[in-house]
Amino acid sequence: MADKIVIHGGIPLNGEVSISGAKNAALGILPAAILADTPMVIDNLPDIQDVNIYVTMLEKLGASLTREGDRLTVDPSGIRFENVDKIVEEATKLRASYYILGAFLSRFRKGRQPLPGGCPIGERPINLHIMAFESLGARVQITETMISMEADELNGADITFDPVSVGATINAMLASVKAKGTTVLRNAAKEPHVVDIANCLNLMGARISGAGTDTIKIKGVDSLRGVVYSVVPDQIQAGTYMIAAAATCGNILVRNIIPQHLESLTAKLREMGNEVTEYDDSIRVIGRRPLLPVNIKTMPHPGFPTDLQQPMGVLMCLAEGQSRITESIFEKRFEYVGQLVKMGADAHLRTENVAVFNGVDHLEGAVIEATDLRAGAAMVIAGLAAMGTTEVLNLEHIERGYVDLVENFRALGADIARVSG
Ligand code: UD1
Repeated sequence: MADKIVIHGGIPLNGEVSISGAKNAALGILPAAILADTPMVIDNLPDIQDVNIYVTMLEKLGASLTREGDRLTVDPSGIRFENVDKIVEEATKLRASYYILGAFLSRFRKGRQPLPGGCPIGERPINLHIMAFESLGARVQITETMISMEADELNGADITFDPVSVGATINAMLASVKAKGTTVLRNAAKEPHVVDIANCLNLMGARISGAGTDTIKIKGVDSLRGVVYSVVPDQIQAGTYMIAAAATCGNILVRNIIPQHLESLTAKLREMGNEVTEYDDSIRVIGRRPLLPVNIKTMPHPGFPTDLQQPMGVLMCLAEGQSRITESIFEKRFEYVGQLVKMGADAHLRTENVAVFNGVDHLEGAVIEATDLRAGAAMVIAGLAAMGTTEVLNLEHIERGYVDLVENFRALGADIARVSG
């Protein structure tokens, strides 16, 4: 039998929670270390599956690593191109493994890898990554399972993304940072982790400007050095606790965050009637009733993040009236709606990318599944808010992206446990 999370719900959460470094920033900073000439020290590294898989990949590629708590020292000098075939198993598990292609193209002028894995939330093509590599001068070959590329030299290029892509923006920065001349990325992603990875590369000696706007300029440099860099706080984990406070009518201070990164969520929580107070590096959310219905459309940053729409779906189940989510980034992000219906939610899909939630008095405990990473966090919040006992299955999804989720909720007063099967 598989492991599960068992929750006896209905308890208002109360207290403080401190947020770890961001998964999606860490997954770009780890491959950035491949580009350094000297050892790199990464602080505030979250202890989650996806990061741990990445650390294993770096080790198998030949890096020397020392990990103490949330600090990882990476000496990349032993990394060899020939080792790429040793990471096939890990690379297929994790979508962000494709950043190794960008970093390898930059360092070795070639790369080879299986096509990436990740959450089952839609097609998730990588055409924009390939277009960026090709624009810089790479010759790319793709078979059913593998992608390989090679370049005689990398030259700066003018690259326009459509649609906006976080992954392609980061990969293009990694690949072009040591190219000859200037690269311009247009319609670039503006997410906080894009900015964090640019900040890290700049501290290493890169010349990147405009990160956080939709045009990023990268003037190629000859070399990058290892530095001490602390990963930006995780806005998605922070948002998850904020929504949990609202869903359980609780009072939570979410610490060690950058409140500006959460403005779109803060606005929606307030619109629903909750009390949200921003401090310098923390946010307090007090859940209020009645919850008012809202509509959300997921958008690239600074719009409402697709990674927080599933937890918001839980909250919408408890609002008085009809709410709606329009998902405009990924096409398969509503698998969780069926799980909420098992708990008594009145929710359905109007179209493939629009979900409608008619508020109910309360949710009832049920046996439900984490259908992907962010849906997993939503299922836990649903269990915390529901009356009775909820069992959440398929934990491997949740453990890819949340540090100490069960322990943190227990410290906030929840009756929650991870039970081994
Ligand atoms: C990243 C995040 C993920 C988040 C998402 C959107 C990481 C490791 N993951 O995913 O948590 O949900 O941003 O904020 O950082 N697209 C293409 N061609 C491409 C690449 C993307 O058409 O080559 C499309 C995608 O199908 C999607 C849209 O662009 O519809 C945005 O995807 P993208 O921003 O690339 O998401 P990821 O980087 O995969």
